[in-house]
This record gives sequence, C-alpha cells and structure tokens, in this order.
Amino acid sequence: KNYDFGLVGLGVMGRNFILNVADNDFKAFGYDLDQEKVDALKKEGGNLEKVDASTEIETFVEALAAPRKIMLLVPAGKIVDQVIETLLPHLDEGDIIIDGGNSFFTDTDRREAYLKDKGINFFGAGVSGGAEGARKGPSIMPGGNAEAYTHIKPIFEAVSAKFNGEPCVAHLGPKSAGNYVKMVHNGIEYGLMQLTSEIYDLLKKSVGLDNDELHQVYDLWNKGRLQSFLVEITAEIFKQDDDLGDGRLVDKILDKAKQKGTGKWTSQNAMDLGIPVPTIDVAVSMREISALKEERIVADKLYDRPAPLPIDKDKIIALAEESLYFAFIIAYAQGLHQLADASKEYEYDLDMSVIAKIWRAGCIIRAGLLEDISDAYTADKELPNLLLAPSFVDKVQGTLASVRETVAYAAQSGIPVPGLSSALNYFEAYTSSRLPLNVIQAQRDNFGSHTYERIDREGVFHTEWGK
Ligand code: 6PG
Repeated sequence: KNYDFGLVGLGVMGRNFILNVADNDFKAFGYDLDQEKVDALKKEGGNLEKVDASTEIETFVEALAAPRKIMLLVPAGKIVDQVIETLLPHLDEGDIIIDGGNSFFTDTDRREAYLKDKGINFFGAGVSGGAEGARKGPSIMPGGNAEAYTHIKPIFEAVSAKFNGEPCVAHLGPKSAGNYVKMVHNGIEYGLMQLTSEIYDLLKKSVGLDNDELHQVYDLWNKGRLQSFLVEITAEIFKQDDDLGDGRLVDKILDKAKQKGTGKWTSQNAMDLGIPVPTIDVAVSMREISALKEERIVADKLYDRPAPLPIDKDKIIALAEESLYFAFIIAYAQGLHQLADASKEYEYDLDMSVIAKIWRAGCIIRAGLLEDISDAYTADKELPNLLLAPSFVDKVQGTLASVRETVAYAAQSGIPVPGLSSALNYFEAYTSSRLPLNVIQAQRDNFGSHTYERIDREGVFHTEWGK
C-alpha cells in the first residue's frame, strides 16, 4: 500500500501521464482491463522502478496509499460512470477520484454530488497538451473540494508544465469548475485553429504562397507577438512531406474537420448564459460546413467567384499578421468573458488571472499573449471583457485599420474568412454605444405588443403602431 498515485486507463494519454508522475519520483500504479496496455506501459522508457500496473482491480486499489488518489484518463461519457462503479466497492472514505477527461461539466457536478454522499472526493480536472503534454508536462485545470486538493497538489504541481518555474496547475474552484474551464479552453482552441487555418487560405489564394513560404511566414510570426503553440505547429505542418507520395502532406489531407464536442458545448453554454462568443460559434460552424464536402462540391459549380484582387505579397502578409493578432485577442476575450460570467452563474469563484497563468505553458492554447492577458486580469480581477482592459486598448486599436482592410479584401476576393470577420464584427458591435436594436424592439412591439424602453424616460411603453 505504498503507491502515491493511481491511474485508470492506460491509453496513450494515461500511459504518458503515469510515466510523467513516475519521472517526478512519485510511485504510480496503473489499471487497465487490457493486458496489452499494461504490458506496453512496462516496456516504455522512464523511471520504471516507480511504475507498476495491473488488470486486476483489487491489486490496483490495494497498492495505493491512503487517501487513494485515482485519476481516470478514459473517454468522457458512460465509461467514467462505469469506472466509478467498478472502483466504489473497493474505496474508503476520504479517497479521491480525479476525472482527467473532457467530461461535460454537469456530469461532473452529478458525479461529485453522488460521490460526496459516499465520502469520496471527486475532481474534474481538465488536462491539456495532448500526448506529448501528458508525458512532459500538461496544463492541468482541476476543480473540486479545496481541502482534498492539498493531497493531489504536490503531484500535479510536479507533473505539470512550468512557465518560468511556475506550475501550470491551480485549484480553480469547486465542483465542475475545472471541467468548465477546460471546456472553454477548447472553445478558444477551436477559434484559434479556425483563424490560423483561414489566414493560411487567405495567403494561399491571394498571392499564392507555397508551403515553404507559408512555413517561413508562420515561423517568423511565431517569433513575434503571435508566438503560440498553434502557430508553431502550423509552421511545422507546411514543411511535412507526404509519407505516401510526392509533395507536402498538408495538400493531401481531406478538408473535413472532425470534432468531439467541447467546442460545441462552449457555444451552447454561452448561449445559455447569454454571453456572445461568435468567433467560437463560427469555428464550430466551419467544422460543420467542412463536413458537407459533397454539397460544397456541387455548390461550387453553381456560383461564380471573383478572382482575388491583385495585392502585394508583403502587404497581405503584414495585413494577415495584424489580423491574426487582433482575432486571437478577440477569441481569448470571448472565452474569458464567458468564464467570468459562468463563474458567477455557477459559483465557481474563478480567478481569471490564475487561469491565464496556467494556460501560459503546456496547453494547446498557450501563447505569448497570455502573459499580457494575465497581467490585465491581475490589474482588475473583475474585468468583464478583455477589450475593456486599458492595457489592451492600444494593442487592439493599432491593428484595426489592417483588420478592416483584410476583411474587405477577402470579401471582394471571394475568400471566406468567417472567423476573422466575426471577430471584427463582434468588436465593432461591442464597442458601439448605439446599436440598431432599437428597431428590433420597435418591431417586437409592432407585431406582438412586446413593449420597449425609452432612452429619455423611465418605464415600459407600448405603441399602437401605424395608428
Ligand atoms: C487539449 C485538447 C484535447 C482535445 C483535442 C481534440 O487541450 O489537449 O483540447 O483535449 O481532445 O483538441 O478536440 P476535437 O476532437 O474536438 O477537435
């Protein structure tokens, strides 16, 4: 009974995570029903003296020191409930279960309440960084009982990514706070991915940049204010040769994007909260449009498209950089706005500067920009929207002329930039003190007596329109 940490699910993520725990000198025991996965773990390199695994649930739970700290890295959904039921008869009061998957936050709340009744502490902990992150240091977003967290804290702090020596993990709040934050992380991830991909399209269609040039452009951007994991890997993607034929792999990949649901959940829940996240919404819609490949092929033949307007290569590259920087800011602003609101609605009591800090390394949306974002929220913990942060006004203002020019150029050239134009239009609307929604109020009152308020006097009004 002397293992510090238990891990259920020895797939790629689980295997990598447990080896990471062992590398940090904690004794870790794995459990998986599949003997091959148990064997595979033992064949991996790493601090193998500190790792063991079994297909027997009794062997697994008996190996763990009290209170047991058991992390699940299994697919989200019913399997999590099944694993919980398998574990339950073997657990003691005070034991801790941590769900490291992308579980839907209300499932986490349900499980937390169910297990609390049985004396078991349940955590939903988002883990970001993919397979490599799990092995070398992910960003971890745990939520659950604060007191019980003290048992997990040393392990999570050791295994997490570090930014300037600071661990990219923090107890974010009670119940599903961690899962919720990870969900919005993924929503932002969808936004940034959409933006990086449509800027690629713009550069390719406008001035015909080839893959080598695209590599150089993204690589250069990654050394500047756009420094981020997603820009970095995009640069790398343009260089990859096709392993099954000639040319570059990127040109052979089918343009239909899959999704596992976290981006959609972010959008859906933003709607429930009444917080606008149009750049995330559009990123989800674009994956859906991409999936309609056969229809797109038919539609493409039905309509004419203008030839892209002539533009200087350096000019469009510069416009693209300004636009991507602006739109990245907007994607984070929308996601963080949602988090700030969810924090009140679900009583998570989130600290936005801490969230921005633990996203600075390890996770998929890590970016130089997060340093500025965390500073903005440190300066004002109650900031409703990043666009209201004094430190962001000049950053955003400086890009606007270019962004407007880019969106106009793309529209006139028939190049879709839905992420960028949604970001710009969100900005234009959010920063307008007067919007045309007075007309909508008038329409509602006109056809349905829904009433309206006035700008010049208190009260609720109804008019017999046209009379
Ligand atoms: C991460 C990622 C990860 C997610 C993938 C795939 O933070 O490491 O968000 O959790 O599963 O990004 O998501 P989709 O299949 O929905 O694109």
